[in-house]
Amino acid sequence: MSQIIVLEPHKDLNDLICINLNTYVGAETIPRSLPDEVISILSILPDVEIVICREKVEGENIVNSIAKYIKTHQLDTQLIVLGKAPGFAKEISTEVDNAHDIEGIIEKASKILGVNPDQIKAKVRPDFIPIPIEYFYNLESSCCDVYIRIKKSAEENQYVKRIHSGDTFSKQAIKRYLEQGLKFFYIQKEFQNNFTNFLSDKLLENLENAMENKSVSEQIEVLGESYDIAINEIVNLGFTPATIQLTDGIISSMIKTVENSPEMSGLLHKVLNSKSSYLYQHSHMAAIVSSEVLNFLKLTDKKLHETMAYASFFADISFVEKTDLAKISSYEELENAKLNEQDWDLVFNHALEASILITKNPSAPKGADVVIKNHHGAANGKGFSVTNSADISGLSKIFIVSCEFVKELLRYKESGQEPSPIIDDLYAKYPDPEMIKAIKALERTLKKRKK
Ligand SMILES: [Fe+2]
Repeated sequence: MSQIIVLEPHKDLNDLICINLNTYVGAETIPRSLPDEVISILSILPDVEIVICREKVEGENIVNSIAKYIKTHQLDTQLIVLGKAPGFAKEISTEVDNAHDIEGIIEKASKILGVNPDQIKAKVRPDFIPIPIEYFYNLESSCCDVYIRIKKSAEENQYVKRIHSGDTFSKQAIKRYLEQGLKFFYIQKEFQNNFTNFLSDKLLENLENAMENKSVSEQIEVLGESYDIAINEIVNLGFTPATIQLTDGIISSMIKTVENSPEMSGLLHKVLNSKSSYLYQHSHMAAIVSSEVLNFLKLTDKKLHETMAYASFFADISFVEKTDLAKISSYEELENAKLNEQDWDLVFNHALEASILITKNPSAPKGADVVIKNHHGAANGKGFSVTNSADISGLSKIFIVSCEFVKELLRYKESGQEPSPIIDDLYAKYPDPEMIKAIKALERTLKKRKK
């Protein structure tokens, strides 16, 4: 559903504009009364289609600052200015004479969203939802018609069908769209569920095929692509039968790669050197390392290994759109990163947020939420702690050191430096005797595998 921010200080008028946009344009509205709130929202919801605001609020010209943010961050967001748009904002703005011209606002919003006026009269909701083009790399055909959105004029969009339902297409054809700078295809909203199921089935089929017939490197490639799509879909749609099934499939395949691997370091290096995303690499490598430590400690109960794999999959899911923030691993790094308030909160609370999210997945093993909550050393899932481990279980401690070890491997790989002795750094960082036990187990696992 399209999203529109309505910045209007008068509550009654704001309500009136929102109700009309909901009813006649079918858009989700985000009512706000303060200009600063608009930029905060755009920083977390960059796909907001329209911001509606007055030329001035309390004598302050606010359009320029919003327009500046949109241009600097190259967003597709359009402005509907209630009054006159200043020169700087003109190319991304359309004007409506005054804030009480509800009909004018509806007309401009519907043009930007590509809803035709006849549909508005019939109170039909806009039909199209965006799908990242990369998703189509994993498909050879589509279960529904696929469109691109083109700008008909400065203020009007049009949807043009490019792939018919059932047509086959090649990866090269999809690549050409990406090379042209397109980020999304669009499908009709009524097919969203069908499409998600279709994509999930296809990914699982690819995964199954890779696990049975392909090399480990090819398995990692398919796992990486599926993981990226799965976490995006979970963050956008929540847990649906399709996302749950896909998550289960990916996690059991990750576990299989560990079971099938004769030794840990070869598998770790294959993931580390694959052309896949940081979040996927961290996730799969944390699952491998924690599972090997469990094996070393003769903790072979399948449930424990599943718990680690689910924790690895979900621990940093909050960073799906801000991968770099996942690289922060201490309170000091968080303070030095000079983040805005929103990103700071995202990092500080990500362990807690993910632990809450995973409880909504009925397939997740009991206790995975706690391991996730503790994965930066804090029992309550907030921030980072290196000393407070009295309330943390042995399982969580193994996971903490596994994640930290993997993060350091990734850091060295990215910087091109020779790894320093990571284990020594871990001993120095975590003086707690219980943590030292977990680090010792990891150290011995590594030594054992080197023989
Ligand atoms: Fe994390």
